[in-house]
Amino acid sequence: MKILITYFSNTGNTEKVAYSIKEGLKENEVDLIPVKDVDASKIAAYDLVLLGSGIYASRIDKSLVNLVKEAAPNLPSKFAYFCTHASLEFYQKPFYNITKILAEHGSKIVDEFDCVGDNIGIPLKTRMTMFDKLPEDKKKKALEDMEKIKGRPNKVDLDKAKRFGETLLKKV
Ligand SMILES: Cc1cc2nc3c(=O)[nH]c(=O)nc-3n(C[C@H](O)[C@H](O)[C@H](O)COP(=O)(O)O)c2cc1C
Repeated sequence: MKILITYFSNTGNTEKVAYSIKEGLKENEVDLIPVKDVDASKIAAYDLVLLGSGIYASRIDKSLVNLVKEAAPNLPSKFAYFCTHASLEFYQKPFYNITKILAEHGSKIVDEFDCVGDNIGIPLKTRMTMFDKLPEDKKKKALEDMEKIKGRPNKVDLDKAKRFGETLLKKV
């Protein structure tokens, strides 16, 4: 299996997950390349491509969508997704635009992984100003959630990412 893991990571959370997934895939030939350095004309040579991103305003970074658009119609037949997000509940459908393109070209999404990533891209002061505008009960929950996501992805998250890599090929 020739596998590409490519990702956009603004503050490094998704990058950590990418490296853990790669550890899990260790028996295979895996290229791990930031999306900005990937040549779209070369991705068809992979048996499986993993696309990863942080979530920004409920979406993945555009660079990944552009990569898939640029590579089409010469797309690999198998993809997987991974992402990190600050919300404790994963309610978003961030890969929506890519999923549409893959469906049009008959590529399959083998599996998906997500985990929490601390919101270090938004300065603490800005976050506190946002929380100050909330009703008291919502502000209390936002502060509690902020504590829960601190330092994540943590070891537990990254072990799960590694396990995702270890089990991924059974689903191909
Ligand atoms: C501008 C901005 C917008 C964000 N929007 C969302 C969002 O809509 N939903 C969410 O769960 N997290 C959101 N986050 C949090 C990031 O998705 C999270 O911290 C993620 O782990 C960042 O990944 P990275 O370090 O790989 O860039 C946002 C962060 C920033 C900086």
